Amino acid sequence: MAKRIGILTGGGDCPGLNAVIRGVVRSAILGRGWEVIGIEDGFDGFLHPEKCRLLELAEVRDILPRGGTILGTTNRGNPFSFPILRDGKVELVDVSHEVVSRIEQLGISGLVVVGGDGSLKIALELMKRGVPIVGVPKTIDNDLLETDVTFGYNTALETATDALDRLHSTAESHHRIMVLEVMGRYAGWIALESGIAGGADVILIPEIPYDIDRISQAIIERGRCGSRFSVIVAAEGAYPRGGNRVVKESAGGMSVVERLGGVGETICRELGGVLQMDIRVTVLGHLQRGGSPSTFDRCLASRFGVQAVELIEAGAFGRMVCLKGREIGSVPIEDAVRKLKLIDPAGEMVRHAEALGIMLGR
Ligand code: F6P
Repeated sequence: MAKRIGILTGGGDCPGLNAVIRGVVRSAILGRGWEVIGIEDGFDGFLHPEKCRLLELAEVRDILPRGGTILGTTNRGNPFSFPILRDGKVELVDVSHEVVSRIEQLGISGLVVVGGDGSLKIALELMKRGVPIVGVPKTIDNDLLETDVTFGYNTALETATDALDRLHSTAESHHRIMVLEVMGRYAGWIALESGIAGGADVILIPEIPYDIDRISQAIIERGRCGSRFSVIVAAEGAYPRGGNRVVKESAGGMSVVERLGGVGETICRELGGVLQMDIRVTVLGHLQRGGSPSTFDRCLASRFGVQAVELIEAGAFGRMVCLKGREIGSVPIEDAVRKLKLIDPAGEMVRHAEALGIMLGR
């Protein structure tokens, strides 16, 4: 009998998910004659029989350049803490036993979990209950340890850099301050790298709490030197020294994680109180998650998919594929989710940004 494996995509989507699915399906079917079951909407799919379907080669045709995921995803579906509505109230229940028995019924002998920190932590818990899993690191936030990058990050960076380029010309024409709020949750990778690439004047990241007076001074100084505009890129998780993150929606109820957002408006208000300049805010939001993956992400995601199948073949469960230098390898999933990969405020990239004259809010 042919070996049967499963694949699901969990958490927020990102460009390159379809490339991973295609990579898994093609290498499993073409190279090995295995069967691949696609599970829709993350771990939730196991709770609904109609959401587990055979993926044939035809289904992954033409999906390589497509954003999103043909399997669907959710960032609310934790089977160990599953939100259900009972008598009008949200209750969190453990439905993991249903997930485990469904995986057994389906005869899945290796499950590829394509996800970020949250989905991979769930994968680890399911492993403890006997589910054979390999992980593929996905997130635009690039906050997973033990891989140089996650797929999806490069495309998000391109989008953020393009936005900065566009904001530059209009900032200069109108002599304005333009604030661009980017995603990244608690990590500042998107802000820092797009800020360097897009020539931002100020970059604000969660790893370096900002001082609004110093930012104002830097903008005034730019004016003295003849630059009557400034471009600021702020990570959604950035916050003032001694202050708090701007939270749009706290965790609780149907929402498993807190939603950040609004720091751009806060900075606009704070600077507006000090500077006599026009300030505008752009929130880049989910544009960073959509669209066609970059060449880099297509290639990385495809290779990750192939490597995941090789891990299953080798029986190397509990491992996550990763990129180290130019080589694809693998690491224990638990090493990758031990803590978030954050920017070192004293590290090389921050130092290089400051050497370029970029103000980091401190
Ligand atoms: O983790 C990816 C991410 O896009 C974060 O950068 C952002 O904070 C969050 O997801 C947004 O989530 P949602 O899609 O629930 O708004």
